[in-house]
Amino acid sequence: KTIYLSDYTPYPWTVDSVDLHFTLDPHATRVRSLIRFAPNPAFTGETPNTMFLHGEQIKLISAQIEGTAINPDLTGEGLTCAVPGGPFTWESEVEIDPANNTALEGLYMSNGMYCTQCEAEGFRKITFYPDRPDVMSVFTVTVEGPHPVLLSNGNPVVTENHLAKWHDPWPKPAYLFALVAGDLVAHSDSFTTMSGRHVDLNLYVRPGDEGKCAFGMQALKASMKWDEDVYGREYDLDLFNIVAVDDFNMGAMENKGLNIFNSSAVLASPETSTDLNFERIEAIIAHEYFHNWTGNRITCRDWFQLCLKEGLTVYRDSQFTSDMRSAPVKRISDVIDLRGRQFAEDQGPLAHPVRPESFQEINNFYTATVYEKGAEVIGMLKTLVGDEAYYKALDLYFTRHDGDAATIEDWLKVFEESTGRDLAQFKRWYSQAGTPRLSVEHSFELDTLTLTFTQHTPPSAATPDPQPQVIPIAVGLIYPDGTEALETRVLEMTKATQSFRFTGLEDEPVPSILRGFSAPVVLTHDLSDADRAHLLAHDTDPFNRWEQGRMLARKSLLAMITEGADPDPAYLAGIHKVATDTTLDPATRALMLDMPSEAELATVLHEAGTAPDPAAIYAAREAMAEARADAFADVAADIYAANTVTEAYQPNADQAGRRVLGNAMLAMITRRDDGAQAAAQYDGADNMNQQLVALALLVGAGKGDEKLQAFEKQWQDDRLVMDKWFGLQVSKAKPEDAAATARRLTEHPAFTHTNPNRFRAVFGALVMHHAGFHHASGDAYTLLADWLITLDPLNPQTTARMCSAFQTWKRYDSDQQAKMLAEITRILATPNLSRDTTEMLTRIKGA
Ligand code: ARG
Ligand code: ZN
Repeated sequence: KTIYLSDYTPYPWTVDSVDLHFTLDPHATRVRSLIRFAPNPAFTGETPNTMFLHGEQIKLISAQIEGTAINPDLTGEGLTCAVPGGPFTWESEVEIDPANNTALEGLYMSNGMYCTQCEAEGFRKITFYPDRPDVMSVFTVTVEGPHPVLLSNGNPVVTENHLAKWHDPWPKPAYLFALVAGDLVAHSDSFTTMSGRHVDLNLYVRPGDEGKCAFGMQALKASMKWDEDVYGREYDLDLFNIVAVDDFNMGAMENKGLNIFNSSAVLASPETSTDLNFERIEAIIAHEYFHNWTGNRITCRDWFQLCLKEGLTVYRDSQFTSDMRSAPVKRISDVIDLRGRQFAEDQGPLAHPVRPESFQEINNFYTATVYEKGAEVIGMLKTLVGDEAYYKALDLYFTRHDGDAATIEDWLKVFEESTGRDLAQFKRWYSQAGTPRLSVEHSFELDTLTLTFTQHTPPSAATPDPQPQVIPIAVGLIYPDGTEALETRVLEMTKATQSFRFTGLEDEPVPSILRGFSAPVVLTHDLSDADRAHLLAHDTDPFNRWEQGRMLARKSLLAMITEGADPDPAYLAGIHKVATDTTLDPATRALMLDMPSEAELATVLHEAGTAPDPAAIYAAREAMAEARADAFADVAADIYAANTVTEAYQPNADQAGRRVLGNAMLAMITRRDDGAQAAAQYDGADNMNQQLVALALLVGAGKGDEKLQAFEKQWQDDRLVMDKWFGLQVSKAKPEDAAATARRLTEHPAFTHTNPNRFRAVFGALVMHHAGFHHASGDAYTLLADWLITLDPLNPQTTARMCSAFQTWKRYDSDQQAKMLAEITRILATPNLSRDTTEMLTRIKGA
């Protein structure tokens, strides 16, 4: 069944209060509810005399309206019953089976603890309720069970042995409900808000994980402070709890006052986490905390508005990371990620607008487009109106819509009113799918430079006839002597073709276009290699400096792939110069050395109308890596030594930057020294980052067997580290061995497909191994399909997500296409396939 944005109507009733009582039992948890309904004044038309409540996979024990027992009509989706005309009280008792809830949605068990995941539509698996985000209410929750820790949203009102009662004063939709019960230990701290409110902070973990809490707690406090400083947003309860859960479909969830995290997104220690883990954890803690305002205090009217909270909150967490670490490094990493994931989505059969207009299963729309492109749209808006107007508009948004379930229209109206701008055309960023192609030509005459831009968005099933969008193009000009002819200026492109003139120039400058990646577009700019090298050396915009180097790398690799060319000596000389330039910080030097991934090259080839050949792409990157090892033979050991961190491990940007540059050198050294240096690093490592990088390089060089065994022995009791051990063997396998390696690992006693982290460790790594997944044998396709068929009845959400591995099937040559299509078709033919997986594969398969 397809649901449409245009069909929205308000719910006929308001819910004035909700009282829930849980009596916990693994297989027979009882949930009693008492809900006060009243006719909704915002509902147009007469209040109906029957009411629908969502409810799935729950057993109705009894139901009453105004104290009188009733017999509702039940379907697989909920119940319908007759209701009185005015306000009334609904009571019910249901029974649920958390121990058998393998979908990890609703109330479920993970290692003996109870926890919940209700976004988007999981609450209906807990009790009968109008499970939609525009129905907001005040919840009081009693939890009874033989567990030392019993948690729900809000503030505790009663805490007795085996019983706790919680009250959340802030009206919220059911998707923000949470309950946790178990034998947990707290890592506690506190925070005083800017107006002086004392907030108790707890991070609850399983016994044994106490030592992995300190970093997450610091990140939480930093986030609370940052939101006060930058957005003036203060926390609004006396208590903020975070719980780490081992079995979780996503990263984390912003339940009011009780955030629930995948343990991989919160637990950290130097011995067990990499630099990237620390950075990701800091960002996710911030993301979930920031949702308290952008998501919870102001929520979404319906799930089509998901980007209202997600795009804005991703944007806010990226600002936070930029402030805590290095802004250019964060921007460049975000663009690499956007190109890798969102551009691929936007160019394939799953393309959809930032605000979709229809869906069958909303869980399938927690996508790179909604999240990451959604954040880019916020960034463009800020670029267009300027910083001051942006924060003014946000203040208005928070005052006007506090307590609302809002829409994108509400959001844009706030900007229109506070800036006087008309955003009707800008709104197309929310309604049109596809990545705009932006091309630019420049010409110079006397003292005038003319830039002529053309935009074009390829049509897609979601948007057959795309119209021109508002594109903020940040531009600067650099003179031949390297000085700046023009500081960054934002051009506002609104037409299909548009020219901009710059007069009074002393000499012909080199244009630096789309500084800071000011819009999520594919830019074509026919700059000569010499001009690119000039920008690489002199551009004052760090993103564009990096971008020029990237373009040279791309160009050389594409020539190697499609024409069998040799690695470009100018590119090798260019990166040699950057890598040895000690006036640049190590993280920047490392980013300049980073090569475009195989997936990115495949996307670029596809954009250019060529079927990517995975084996050729892999071979070209290998040849380039060999050429780089030669080119750096003179300096690699010195740079490695100079960037060795001798101080105690700190997960900060400075140390991480040195490690990433040093390890880039170690990768080159390992190609020449039989792994001697990597083995030494492994043996001497006192932190996971250096241990894991060394192990990965050894495995990649075919010299890792002994260390893999040692690593397994050392870490067999640490789930999160073992996930790395599983993943690394797949990602470092030769393309022809990737599927066999994954298959072998599924036979390992520690493999389990019911834990999403472990399943993704193996299969996430397999689908991200471009040449391995797309190996001509087709073995990886078959293996993945077998496991998706196995997992689907247990966990539809994680299965459906992994299906996106097949989204690029039409890019490849006809032989590969046929192999992928056969697996897509085979999965689709599975009896009782979930709605999640059916929708994903049907869209991927296309008409
Ligand atoms: N709101 C959560 C976050 O972005 C993600 C929840 C995803 N849930 C889902 N069922 N897809 O922080
Ligand atoms: Zn979010």
